[in-house]
Amino acid sequence: MAQPSTLKAVDKVWVDGHLVPFAEAQVHVLTHTLHYGVGAFEGVRAYKRPDGSGAIFRLDDHINRLFQSCQICMMDVPFTREQLMQACVDTMRANKMVEAYLRPLVFLGAGELGLGSTGNPVRVVIAVYEWGAYLGEEGLRRGIRAKVSSFTRGALNSTMSKGKICGQYVNSVLAKREVLKAGYSEAILLDSIGQVAEASGENIFLVRKGKLKTPPLSSAILEGITRETVITLAREMGFTVEESTFARDELYLADEVFFTGTAAELTPVREIDDRKIGAGECGPITRKLQDAYFEAVKGRAGTEKPAHPEWLTFV
Ligand SMILES: Cc1ncc(COP(=O)(O)O)c(C=O)c1O
Repeated sequence: MAQPSTLKAVDKVWVDGHLVPFAEAQVHVLTHTLHYGVGAFEGVRAYKRPDGSGAIFRLDDHINRLFQSCQICMMDVPFTREQLMQACVDTMRANKMVEAYLRPLVFLGAGELGLGSTGNPVRVVIAVYEWGAYLGEEGLRRGIRAKVSSFTRGALNSTMSKGKICGQYVNSVLAKREVLKAGYSEAILLDSIGQVAEASGENIFLVRKGKLKTPPLSSAILEGITRETVITLAREMGFTVEESTFARDELYLADEVFFTGTAAELTPVREIDDRKIGAGECGPITRKLQDAYFEAVKGRAGTEKPAHPEWLTFV
């Protein structure tokens, strides 16, 4: 079978409680989620520490959010949180990986295909693979160019923004493809009343007059784990972080803007809608927070104890 071109095959994938060879991790064409998108997933990263060990970042928070997404979709996960956390560790070990992107997915298997079907099996898979900087190494260093999308985030009662639900990502894919085609790296989505919500796969922060601002959880945004990590680190560093709504022009007037996400980590935004943001490079506060973020996830050579050991699950 042809492998997806950007994904390097690994040895094993965890499927419904068993580690199976990569090529055997397949589904039937009548898989319910393949048709309607009722499923939930997570994106988790594990990093190599200075001592050569690997640690999965905030695994319990990711698995908790997976269960919350399933609660929204009314899917009963046939495993406990502890079993899925252990399965993530086991899958990394089975593939001899200390650094990886982990993709747990809960989906409705084959059976009936009606919208109201309730009898389909709830299946769980965990795949791990290598994935470098999502918005590029240069993007991490210098910042990226972003564009406000013509697609908006679904209204609060049409999209369940607190769930990382498969079908909802059509909105993100359309927005991302639109801006890539126009020559930008990432899409910023407004909500149904025109306030800034988030990027296609990241939360968004601005820095203005030394203070940070990010949309509140009452907005149509995912409750990002990186968002919460960065808010915690920023407050520990003495910065003020305000969670409040703002319009797109406040982004244009910001001194700094950055995105947060497990895949994108903490990526500076140097330009939005062809307007230079601040000095048009990674700003000083963004850089400080980025350094603190990478120290939290990867550790720093010569530092014995991580600042937040509760965020790490060693592999
Ligand atoms: C739409 C959306 N917003 C925000 C995020 C950032 O969330 P996290 O920091 O938990 O990865 C993601 C990625 O998971 C996402 O898909």
